[in-house]
Amino acid sequence: MSRLIVVSNRVGVPDGSARAGGLEVAVRAALRRRGGVWFGWSGKVGGNGGGSPHTIRHDNISYVTVDLKRDDYDEFYNGFANRVLWPILHYRLDLAEFTRRDLGGYFRVNEFFARHLEAQLKPDDVIWVHDYHLIPLARALRDRGNKNRIGFFIHIPCPPPEILTALPNHELLIPALCDYDLVGFQTETDATNFCRYLVSECGLKRLDGDRFRFDERTVEVGVFPVGVETETFARLARRAIESAFVRDVLESLSGRAMIIGVDRLDYSKGIPERLDAYQRFLVNFPDWRGKVTYLQITPRSRSGIPEYADVSRKVGEAVGGINGTYGEASWTPVRYINKAHSRTALAGLYRAARAALVTPLRDGMNLVAKEFVAAQNAEDPGVLILSRFAGAAYECKAALLVNPYDPEGVAIAVNRALAMPLAERRERYEQNYRVLAKNDISHWAERFLDMLEPAERPASAHAAE
Ligand code: F6P
Repeated sequence: MSRLIVVSNRVGVPDGSARAGGLEVAVRAALRRRGGVWFGWSGKVGGNGGGSPHTIRHDNISYVTVDLKRDDYDEFYNGFANRVLWPILHYRLDLAEFTRRDLGGYFRVNEFFARHLEAQLKPDDVIWVHDYHLIPLARALRDRGNKNRIGFFIHIPCPPPEILTALPNHELLIPALCDYDLVGFQTETDATNFCRYLVSECGLKRLDGDRFRFDERTVEVGVFPVGVETETFARLARRAIESAFVRDVLESLSGRAMIIGVDRLDYSKGIPERLDAYQRFLVNFPDWRGKVTYLQITPRSRSGIPEYADVSRKVGEAVGGINGTYGEASWTPVRYINKAHSRTALAGLYRAARAALVTPLRDGMNLVAKEFVAAQNAEDPGVLILSRFAGAAYECKAALLVNPYDPEGVAIAVNRALAMPLAERRERYEQNYRVLAKNDISHWAERFLDMLEPAERPASAHAAE
């Protein structure tokens, strides 16, 4: 088997921190099974950025990371990746900010990654690149003469060409994905949107299935919905609910039902809209006042970016408004916490909750939704309230699917979840769990790598079976 080299902007270096986005959780689980190298940014900014990579070995994984210079960090991470690509790929043209200088910084950092990565590579390594920070990485490697098999998986949505073409200079960037051998998406919709772009904007023709010819190369497009460690997480939750931490939380609720939300503080997660819906729930279903507590755990994210400061202010104001208006001396309707919690703590809290509110305005997958299902007690499961605009909705069809832009509809779903009879809760949980147990994280990684590695490749990557 070839050596696996994973490349992503964030690298899950084992440093004991609780911070972990969906990508880190998924990649760590996939690499743990097979071993290999995980290459990317160290998370550190400063110096001249020209220093040599740092390597840490842990179990069967080598973590190789590089620091970024301040200018590179500002233009690449805070600039083009998170103020242009992130909003546009999440269908938020209204929040996009573009300067030509930032696009230059984005290409420059991809070049920088390619230069350092090249020094690590052997000819038969398989390279798996992740996420929107590194779209042109294969091109930067190919320009250096690299001929390895290189795959790309994008964890966030891919909008239709009608939106993608609003990305200034999209023609310089998006076609660079054709320098990969395989490009993977979370859902059929994302893959179809990308294929439509290749046909309408690049004039490419389909060879067969989802393969396209681009210059002398063939690029294949596939759908690989990212999963979670379903059974492992279920075991973790069974243990975690007994922990002193979860017991303390439950005790502090004084028998009230708990609704949980866990999200990075990001406008794509729809937290102000969710709070609006919770407020309507308290207004429209007043019998629940004093009997329910909504716990929203929201670690701060990308705080150097103005749009994130705005959402932070909005959420703080909304929480204060609800607690001030509806709270009692003995009851706080919303508990809002910015501290990151460990996976164990979250697993226990998910199992203790009667319902989860996972209502992003747009999300590539959303692993909180999947982990919430995995964590439930099969005998007495909680209910998942899930945005129809999250990739997870394609698999968690037995969740209460909602439109996050419609606060009245979400309020009705909250009432329905809390009042749902046990038989219906069990049925919905079992249906969702079955799907997630089948398409767990190892299935996701195996399907992608089977398709990427040269030996015996199946004809089409579509459908998660
Ligand atoms: O998958 C989405 C993603 O951008 C990942 O790349 C990242 O790990 C996570 O969200 C958190 O974002 P950031 O790395 O900007 O903190």
